Amino acid sequence: MAVSQLDRRVAMAPMMDWSDRHCRHFIRLLAPRTLLYTEMIVADAIVRGDRGRLLDFDASEHPLALQLGGADPATLAMAARIGAERGYDEINLNVGCPSERVQSATFGACLMARPALVAECVAAMRAAVAIPVTVKCRIGIDDTDSYEFLLAFVDTVAATGCDTFIVHARKAILAGLSPKENREIPPLKYETVWRLKADRPGLTIVANGGIRTLEGAREQWQRTDGVMVGREAYHNPYYLAALDRLAWPAHAPPVPEPAEVVAALRPYVAARLARGERLHAITRHVLGLYAHRPGARAFRRVMSELAPHAGADFAVLEAALRAAEGAAPLRLTA
Ligand SMILES: Cc1cc2nc3c(=O)[nH]c(=O)nc-3n(C[C@H](O)[C@H](O)[C@H](O)COP(=O)(O)O)c2cc1C
Repeated sequence: MAVSQLDRRVAMAPMMDWSDRHCRHFIRLLAPRTLLYTEMIVADAIVRGDRGRLLDFDASEHPLALQLGGADPATLAMAARIGAERGYDEINLNVGCPSERVQSATFGACLMARPALVAECVAAMRAAVAIPVTVKCRIGIDDTDSYEFLLAFVDTVAATGCDTFIVHARKAILAGLSPKENREIPPLKYETVWRLKADRPGLTIVANGGIRTLEGAREQWQRTDGVMVGREAYHNPYYLAALDRLAWPAHAPPVPEPAEVVAALRPYVAARLARGERLHAITRHVLGLYAHRPGARAFRRVMSELAPHAGADFAVLEAALRAAEGAAPLRLTA
């Protein structure tokens, strides 16, 4: 995909343990144009580890960005090159994760305090690949949270030629809060992201954090270049389906019904099971298929109870579907 064709009006956030290839394959059935992100993958693991396991994806997942974690320019450059060779459409650097494990390796959000190093990393990555290299960051960290700090960070990194920043509109607290708390406790400050876009109109600025309604997304589109949505899209995938169509109405195929989504999953599930994967690993991401619809609880219950069993196969999805649609009485035996 050519660089200029990456359309950033809607992206689904990188989410560790959540946005794996099974999740992305499922989401793509509902959101045909949304830019998808992998979970953060540590650059060193790509360079030294099992690349197939870490990086393989299904062609249907395009457009797809690979998010890297790391702080060593040479390692990041190598990992970026490997990602580009494998067909990813974008390489993104994580400068927003506050977990202590990540901090002890001195990457993630704490890198915001080291803009020159981030710039060095991004420059090395850009030199290694022809696809876009982007940065996902916070609006600040700890007490270093002035607008001037954010602007200086962005300017330093943008001087390398990087022109796209996804900004989670809340600062990270590096000590004392868990990653989960860090996604809820410091208040969101969209104004900071909007000010950044106003001051640097030549940069592509994507807003992230707490964008949970179509109205909220519309508001961001008026002041930024796009939205990245995480938890709401994961728990309620039809929200992402609606957002995708709101962003690209001219290209919108009809939104499939849950039964059509399940039917579309069949060949994928069969192929993955044939490779020895467990049903639950694939279908744990589809629990929100009926979110905010009648049948939601029944669907989740059947999936949660039956999918984890060894040997569980596609019949579990069909049973969950029947339960949700109220078509047949439930018999919960594995
Ligand atoms: C389970 C989970 C895992 C996450 N893992 C990552 C990650 O690997 N890389 C990253 O940049 N952000 C990660 N995040 C943060 C999200 O990308 C996003 O910035 C955050 O959830 C705010 O967006 P939201 O309010 O739309 O969920 C994670 C969030 C969640 C909920």
